[in-house]
Amino acid sequence: MVTEEQIRKELHELVVPGLTRTVGSMNLITDVKIEEKKVALTLAAAGMTTLVQGVLRAKITKIVGQLTGGSEVEVNYENVKPGVLNKIKNIVAIMSGKGGVGKSLVAGLTAVSLKRMGYNVGILDADITGPSVPKMFGVTDRPAGDETGILPVLSKSGIRVMSINLLLPAEDDAVIWRGPLIARAIEQFWQDVHWGDLDYLVIDLPPGTSDAALTVMQSIPITGAVVVYTPQDLAMMIVRKAFSMAKNMEKPVLGVVENMSYIYIPELNQKLELFGASQANSMVEAAGAPLLAQIPVDPNLAKLCDEGRVEDYEADFIKTLGENIIKSIADKKAAKKAEKESEK
Ligand SMILES: Nc1ncnc2c1ncn2[C@@H]1O[C@H](COP(=O)(O)OP(=O)(O)O)[C@@H](O)[C@H]1O
Ligand SMILES: [Mg+2]
Repeated sequence: MVTEEQIRKELHELVVPGLTRTVGSMNLITDVKIEEKKVALTLAAAGMTTLVQGVLRAKITKIVGQLTGGSEVEVNYENVKPGVLNKIKNIVAIMSGKGGVGKSLVAGLTAVSLKRMGYNVGILDADITGPSVPKMFGVTDRPAGDETGILPVLSKSGIRVMSINLLLPAEDDAVIWRGPLIARAIEQFWQDVHWGDLDYLVIDLPPGTSDAALTVMQSIPITGAVVVYTPQDLAMMIVRKAFSMAKNMEKPVLGVVENMSYIYIPELNQKLELFGASQANSMVEAAGAPLLAQIPVDPNLAKLCDEGRVEDYEADFIKTLGENIIKSIADKKAAKKAEKESEK
């Protein structure tokens, strides 16, 4: 007799009509019941219209019917909260001590790096001060969805993009997100997005150590934080606040990224330290976490971001950025495990 595992495997790569994503990647199947001559499947409605549900039902009935050699197939839909369906393995929050240091850019490049390695990646723009993430990825569509949940918009390379800014009717409406409302809004937003199965979710946090940043850190189960800074005089003082915020919230700092570290002058084959000497050594020491990348000031990078083409950017540090984050997550997990064992 056919097993549940076989059925799930067979349907994993089935594309949901009109949504350009698969049954498996959305983690749609909530229940499988196998009887002698009948298979009953339950799927999450996940923002699908009745039309889409019907087409998908027909496809599934055919596939499972063939697999079982002619069993009766029943496909039902139920309304399940995305929060229950989502399976997100790692959540990486990108922080900064203050605005304008390239936090959103690093969030975008982190998602690009992990995606190029072949992982399922999502990016959540939780920074209400401006829609830089959708802009960088050239995403302008409003996310589809209904009362059962909101679907992230897919970028060109298949990164699942969601931005609070994409849901606001107009940019001025950012005002309503201030104050006590923000906690509830972010919590709701987190529960209502159909991320599906993700290896990595990258979050662009609100800048600095504001209440908004704190709220996001509190309401989302973050694996660790990446802290972005630029090598300016006061950077150390400001970044320390971000480190202590992460520490107070008991979130590990996965590492630091030095942005605008230098500018490369090809004619001289020289790296010029525009904003002062690198502070990488003292940052690494203060964070108790590694240097994940040093990013140069690159006009081409700025241009690609403006054009919504961050995914086209090529540089050696992109590859190592993702690798270093993955390594740091593994190290932090191992350290935590060792700590737990020593407590026994
Ligand atoms: N390394 C860099 N090279 C070129 N432009 C950069 C670099 N880092 C950031 N920028 C540009 O500076 C601006 C601010 O960056 P952004 O990521 O939005 O900062 P933040 O999110 O910290 O406020 C953006 O226009 C971005 O494209
Ligand atoms: Mg930003």
